[in-house]
Amino acid sequence: MDIRLMRPSDIPLVQHANLENLPENYQLKYYLYHALSWPQLSYVAVDVSRPKKTPYDQPKIVGYVLAKMEEEPTDGVPHGHITSLSVMRTHRRLGIAEKLMRQSQLAMVETFGAHYVSLHVRVSNKAAIHLYQNTLGFDREKTELKYYADGEDAYCMKLDLSSIREKLREELEEEKKEERKKKKAEGDDEGGYEDEGEPVGDVGRDPDAKKDEDKKVKVKVGRALGVGELVERVESTRIEQ
Ligand code: ACO
Repeated sequence: MDIRLMRPSDIPLVQHANLENLPENYQLKYYLYHALSWPQLSYVAVDVSRPKKTPYDQPKIVGYVLAKMEEEPTDGVPHGHITSLSVMRTHRRLGIAEKLMRQSQLAMVETFGAHYVSLHVRVSNKAAIHLYQNTLGFDREKTELKYYADGEDAYCMKLDLSSIREKLREELEEEKKEERKKKKAEGDDEGGYEDEGEPVGDVGRDPDAKKDEDKKVKVKVGRALGVGELVERVESTRIEQ
């Protein structure tokens, strides 16, 4: 089994899996919105055990996680959101959903500095609730009454990502230490040379060059691109194919 990032070309197969496994279905543009705005966060599980018969054979996608960052968090805290997760019946209880979720959570922290991740799940969905609460450690925040189109309530769940943040910070520290050690060893190889000069600061620098460095470039994502109306709840009705 190969767990890899979702590519735009995977979307038709992901949409197929979603239609097979869940009553919450979305239009193609909603998948594209995820894939183009946050390409680091959505993953697919590909069954590579069956070799391709022709070069045109599609990869067999047996699971996916579709995830995003909350664009305008009401609490002001950067956080991710799991829009949809599913695994084909033939491949369940093999740890695929857990792996997909963990990959996405890691990417949320690594790429976007997410503090937590949230999701909604049907109150009757025992398998998913077990995965979120028992396996991954999500907390049940509240119940949203009649959240789904058929009137079922949803649990709103949250997972604090500070342990991943801490682990990444430690790894970065370790890398920096290694880098310093390596540099020092290289310096020793070159006859112990070390640059001990004072920093020169801005003296002698072109002041306009400094201004250009400070300039931040604004880029549009998600809502600013005019996809604000693609709200998850509006999309949560089955689309006839
Ligand atoms: N009943 C009880 N526990 C279960 C069940 C089940 N039917 N299925 C899996 N689990 C447990 C596993 O035993 C494991 O627990 P453990 O860590 O204590 O051993 C844990 O859940 C994770 O198991 P995985 O093998 O990683 O889960 P799997 O790959 O089978 O996928 C999923 C679980 C995604 C819920 C799958 O059953 C599915 O696709 N269901 C239909 C779609 C769905 O409900 N998606 C979630 C909707 S909510 C949302 O999208 C945000």
